[in-house]
Amino acid sequence: MPYILSTQAMDGFYGTFYKTTIAMRKQIAAANWKMNGTYQQAESLLNEILQAKIALKPFQEVIFAVPFPYLIMSNSVVANEYHYHISAQNCYHKASGAFTGEVSAEMLRSIGIRYCVIGHSERREYFGEDNALLAGKADLCLKNEITPLFCCGEPLAVRESGNQNQYVADQIEASLFHLNKEDFSRVIIAYEPIWAIGTGKTAAAEQAQEMHSFIRSTLKKKYGEETAAATPILYGGSVKANNAAELFACEDVDGGLVGGASLAADDFIEIVKALKG
Ligand code: 13P
Repeated sequence: MPYILSTQAMDGFYGTFYKTTIAMRKQIAAANWKMNGTYQQAESLLNEILQAKIALKPFQEVIFAVPFPYLIMSNSVVANEYHYHISAQNCYHKASGAFTGEVSAEMLRSIGIRYCVIGHSERREYFGEDNALLAGKADLCLKNEITPLFCCGEPLAVRESGNQNQYVADQIEASLFHLNKEDFSRVIIAYEPIWAIGTGKTAAAEQAQEMHSFIRSTLKKKYGEETAAATPILYGGSVKANNAAELFACEDVDGGLVGGASLAADDFIEIVKALKG
């Protein structure tokens, strides 16, 4: 789990020795509220979670992906909280122009948003977003200094046919592997098997670990050991207060992207507390 951040040669009385800085890669509990709740409910939910004053380690983060109209309010609620960040749930794949009703990455940046979910399976399914279009979103996010929280994951039929690894690798390659190493190192991956989303049917911890380790090995082939070891890979799909600890304990699972259970303060607080640390 810990990876070597840097090794620095230092000369001392006894000769040269090496100071190695060991760092933990980020562990993240991300809430995806989807299209739920009013402005007032959103504000109380955030405040309730902050009031729990969860003791977070330096490498632990909490991200709330909230509906567009709540971004500014949410950002000001967490403004003085070091470990808490606000994310958009989507942005458009073009920079600007005559796209009525859409929101650009530049607009998000202009209101201080530094995270954006892209490629959620609901957007792929209901809004026809494909891998190539998501490559454009990733570029625009990075150009605007927004961290993309890139979702991938296979449908049930693919899992049943045993081709889930290839399916997920294809999604990641097609949407992200055009990025150079520096840009890629700002990406967060969320593996969300579609058959586990909103179904109450969580992937078993072994299934999650197997896929996350496969994703990390795919990243290693492309970007090398250090980048692969530092990339947070979150699990999403029916994460609940009673299964989060088991999932997050897996070596390559760096937290979760949580839908339903992120809408109840008590449940989400427990999920945050379950982060590895
Ligand atoms: P659920 O936690 O409700 O299954 O949703 C997962 C999800 O889609 C998070 O993005």
